[in-house]
Amino acid sequence: MNNQDISVIRELVAGGTPTPFYYYNMELLRKTLQEIQQQALKYGFEVHYALKANSNDRILQKILPYLSGADCVSGNEIKKAIENGFKAEKIAFAGVGKSDREIDIAIDEDIFCFNCESIQELEVINERAFLKQKIVRIALRMNPGINANTHHYITTGLEENKFGINRWELDKVMLTLQKLPNLKLTGIHFHIGSQITDLMPFRSLCLKVNEIQEWFDNQHINLEHINVGGGLGVNYEQPDVENIPDFAAYFKLFHDFIYLKPNQKLHFELGRSVVAQCGSLISKVLYVKEGIKTNFVILDAGMTELIRPALYQSYHKIENLSVPPDENGFAYDVVGPICESSDCFGKAVSLPLTKRGDIIAIRSTGAYGEVMASQYNLRDLAPSFFSDDL
Ligand code: LLP
Repeated sequence: MNNQDISVIRELVAGGTPTPFYYYNMELLRKTLQEIQQQALKYGFEVHYALKANSNDRILQKILPYLSGADCVSGNEIKKAIENGFKAEKIAFAGVGKSDREIDIAIDEDIFCFNCESIQELEVINERAFLKQKIVRIALRMNPGINANTHHYITTGLEENKFGINRWELDKVMLTLQKLPNLKLTGIHFHIGSQITDLMPFRSLCLKVNEIQEWFDNQHINLEHINVGGGLGVNYEQPDVENIPDFAAYFKLFHDFIYLKPNQKLHFELGRSVVAQCGSLISKVLYVKEGIKTNFVILDAGMTELIRPALYQSYHKIENLSVPPDENGFAYDVVGPICESSDCFGKAVSLPLTKRGDIIAIRSTGAYGEVMASQYNLRDLAPSFFSDDL
């Protein structure tokens, strides 16, 4: 973490701000957004921000001038995006289980597109649109059958997943669509998983997209847009070395490998890569408990504030902001206060000699941190602080 952030956080805590809290480096977020905008603009690509990664109002307001599109997965996310200035005509609505109420919200707002995942869903959206005498734009979420080599909880492109329509179901889907006059097919949608750091699965996705496009071509069906979802990963191990993901290489790969027709637009839905690195969960050490083999650092933050390590065994860099780093540090298991053994942020974490009251930062928590918080054990939700206010 940079020195400026460290001193701001130390001052906050010294001034009596209770921990835990989320801290966002808004300058890093701005630079990340600028880079995405620049690289995507080169090829005329459109990026929708995936609200599920972080839907804090302040974060959304920062994102809006750079990425005007949004990717929402619930009626409330659609409302939240619109409240924060995102235009309905740039909102994609995804999700394998859209409720009637959510479908109605999206129809009333006249959003850009529904990303649809099953025949039954198409029929229901058509029915709701008919009741409102509207024609709605839909894209078919195709399951490309690609292994993204990421955590099995966050891979989505394989055939046995609950997501998407399989290639072999396409004939049936198209026959059904012919009988659904309130739907207009405008695109196809894909998403192969999240936290993908090796670009090869994205290359496979491009080839798959071309293959599926050819099928539509042969049927003389013109698609206005192709949406390749999100999934670009971030460097959790070294957040300061690579604080902005390599968007140049990412977008170039799609430019090089996807065959787009004239007037066809390529859309993306990026979440993690936009916001992960700008956020840190800040906590204080409540106790240091010495065991026989293991010493525990017990924090006042737990899986209620950040569930990723407990849920996916995911790695987040942990730093002691109260004392300078020490190469000959000590190995601690860093745990939270919740009565669950999975409430552990890291095992054998190397930290300098750590004591009660030290400030601890859990890094790269801007994505899927705050949004996945719970009030288990009747704990309060952690507040957020933004560098541009401090
Ligand atoms: N589009 C669709 C259809 C998605 O399902 C997702 C994420 C995204 C876009 C955004 O993907 P991203 O660019 O953020 O990888 N809670 C998990 C991550 C779940 C991701 C779900 N889908 C975690 O903490 O790692």
